[in-house]
Amino acid sequence: ITDIEADITEVLFTEEQIAETIAGLARQIEADYSDDDDVLLVGVLRGAVMVMADLARELRLQLNMDWMAVSSYGSGTQSSGVVRILKDLDTDITGRKVLIVEDIIDSGLTLSWLLSNLRSRGAASVEICALLRKPLAVKVEIDVKYVGADIPNAFVVGYGLDYAERYRNLKSIGVLAPHVYA
Ligand code: PRP
Ligand code: MN
Ligand code: MG
Repeated sequence: ITDIEADITEVLFTEEQIAETIAGLARQIEADYSDDDDVLLVGVLRGAVMVMADLARELRLQLNMDWMAVSSYGSGTQSSGVVRILKDLDTDITGRKVLIVEDIIDSGLTLSWLLSNLRSRGAASVEICALLRKPLAVKVEIDVKYVGADIPNAFVVGYGLDYAERYRNLKSIGVLAPHVYA
């Protein structure tokens, strides 16, 4: 853990800035849902664990939580475009109001695939809440209702975001130094 700081060239979001962003997302979501909706938060493992944990506790709403594990990256820095279900929902989402919780949208491939997959199951609604969005994703035709922040096209890690399964435990979000993956 001592070498982690040397692997980060720039901190993009401090712990405090992340908390503010999450609170802002929560206020928007609370305005759109009521306790009667009994919204189902679907966290996308593994990157979304931190966002899910903090967003769920910030939301003053009745909610359920479930998880899906999909992967499109493997151990590289580029999206492969191949989305695999590694773990499906345990919940029947027929008639449910579903809110997908993601850490980051890069190419948008994961979410566009997940959106159509969940919508085909007969949910009452399926919306997306992503903490971060990269420039490529803006071009993709997916309707992301809640976005915490748009970020530059750098490889970012921390707060759930990994490079080769490392750095997820950083409290802040930063840019990974090129020497790490060069
Ligand atoms: C990352 C990230 C998003 C997805 C975004 O997950 O957490 O889920 O990639 O990329 P896209 O918009 O180009 O599809 P990853 O596949 O690395 O799995 P992980 O969450 O377990 O790290
Ligand atoms: Mn992910
Ligand atoms: Mg990853």
